[in-house]
Amino acid sequence: MRLNDLTYMKQLIAILLVFATSVAAQADETRKVPLLGNVINRQTTSLNGEWNYIVDVQECGYYGYRREKIRNGFFRNDKPRQPEDLIEYDFDKADKMQIPSDWNTWNQRLFFYEGTVWFKRSFNYQPKAGRRTLLYFGAVNYEAIVFVNGREVGQHVGGFTPFNFDVTDLLREGENFVIVKVDNKRSRENVPTLIFDWWNYGGITRDVMLVDVPQNYIENYSLQLQSLEGRLLSFNLKLNQPEAGQQVMLAIPELKIKKTVTTDDKGCASINMKAKPQLWSPEHPKRYRVEMTLNGETLIDSIGFRKIETKGKQLLLNGTPIFLKGISIHEEKPMGGGRANSTADAHILLSWAKELGCNFVRLAHYPHNEFMVREAERMGLMVWSEIPVYWTIDWTNPSTFDNASQQLNDMIRRDQNRANVIIWSIANETPHSAERDNFLSRLSKMAHDLDNTRLVSMAMEVLSAANYHNRLQDNMNQYVDVISFNQYIGWYRDVKDAPKMTWEIPYDKPVIVSEFGGGAKYGLHGAPNQRWTEEFQENLYKENTAMLDKIDGLAGTTPWILKDFRSPRRLLTDVQDYYNRKGLYSDKGEKKKAFYVLKQWYEGK
Ligand code: GCU
Repeated sequence: MRLNDLTYMKQLIAILLVFATSVAAQADETRKVPLLGNVINRQTTSLNGEWNYIVDVQECGYYGYRREKIRNGFFRNDKPRQPEDLIEYDFDKADKMQIPSDWNTWNQRLFFYEGTVWFKRSFNYQPKAGRRTLLYFGAVNYEAIVFVNGREVGQHVGGFTPFNFDVTDLLREGENFVIVKVDNKRSRENVPTLIFDWWNYGGITRDVMLVDVPQNYIENYSLQLQSLEGRLLSFNLKLNQPEAGQQVMLAIPELKIKKTVTTDDKGCASINMKAKPQLWSPEHPKRYRVEMTLNGETLIDSIGFRKIETKGKQLLLNGTPIFLKGISIHEEKPMGGGRANSTADAHILLSWAKELGCNFVRLAHYPHNEFMVREAERMGLMVWSEIPVYWTIDWTNPSTFDNASQQLNDMIRRDQNRANVIIWSIANETPHSAERDNFLSRLSKMAHDLDNTRLVSMAMEVLSAANYHNRLQDNMNQYVDVISFNQYIGWYRDVKDAPKMTWEIPYDKPVIVSEFGGGAKYGLHGAPNQRWTEEFQENLYKENTAMLDKIDGLAGTTPWILKDFRSPRRLLTDVQDYYNRKGLYSDKGEKKKAFYVLKQWYEGK
């Protein structure tokens, strides 16, 4: 071959390589697909279990020494081919972590760690003709960059909502590997932002799975009781492909319903139908087997039907006024801290709430794992579900708003068929400002547009009055269906003021006291005025429950909080030791004296 032919060939190969890389890069952008609904009832292969992990404090597996993105990063899982090859990482020799979990409690050396950790899992795969395979994450805190067989498939920000990618054409017969760059560093523009009163547990904190679906599959759906009187059910469904003429059969055998819907050119279909279901309620948490069949494949769900609405200051469940006997809960394992992530964790936490006499739980301050919501539905506990728009969010940052709205969308899309979810909360204790109102009013509209069968609220802040008269004033009152606020008489203000306090909530809407409480170290005893004793907390609960009985239009409360939880803001040695001690249970599942005060008060409700 003549020299100039050789040069020409080299140039051609170089151009082709650049083109292939750029196509590959563009292709990578398109692999994130809309969230799959009802994943746990689909055909899945779990990728839970042992993952190798590498702690990468300076992200050298992703950036070069000039902070430029590198092409031969850790995501390639390279191995030396020649004796002289330089590769400064090896996943197969790295430590292992049981996924799902958080690295803070898995490895004591990572207790305080905030930064990047790489995770790698190999798995075998047998392609199936005519099928698609999605890679689904229940949650990764906080930012995830995901690679399959060395190719980036996409990114996700937000530590508490699921996400999935279509990885069909990247998988090969036999061994494959998935690598995730997880970074839990806090930052101003994040949601939540730089400061928050819970532990910043990092990692792949919820289930990971491959989901086997047909080329054209049921992406998501909603089945709701639209009207109580007419007992009208509405069913809306969306396929992943905008294909008209696809027929889906909806069956609810126990209600003798069998209807076929046909998709339009967007791949969507809907139908209203009359039915007389037994209504879901805390006393009778009835759910129905629902079958959706497309091209011979049936997706099953269990769905309850109920109506939640307001009438002036009343909260009506199935047309009857109800008082929400609640408790707030963080997503932490019942004993010893760390992210809760299983039905077993959920069952223990929710059993504690039931023992307290609750019919309602505030899953603070972010969407909890799907097992928690489904277990609460089975056990007859209504749910307040919340996105972590918490304290001092970067209200004027468009990417912050996009992040918050994505988290709101994904929270609603995941749990829109859970009858027990009655309130979507868009914020917690946010300082008043026009920028905040603009940000939150748009989120409130979005929540109402996405789901007209639930109520929208947010935990407001009452600016404690110098005298004893508290008038709640918040511009956001017009954008929420339920007025909720946090107050800490007895903890951040003298408990002796409680009997003198009067509360004015000048809005004709139901009122929830979304937080009250105080800290106590389990087993520490003394006089009721001695802070941190169980007696102090017990007295605080006595005074607060008496005070709440005087609030006009009180429709419920979710005291802060079921159990002690880890927080980097609670530093008092021998008392807090990085735990917020406002729990009615200790971090070892021991009941404090205040537990019995609230239990007795609820018995009288
Ligand atoms: C706030 C906040 C909670 C926090 C609590 C406390 O109300 O909403 O997240 O833990 O106060 O001070 O303990």
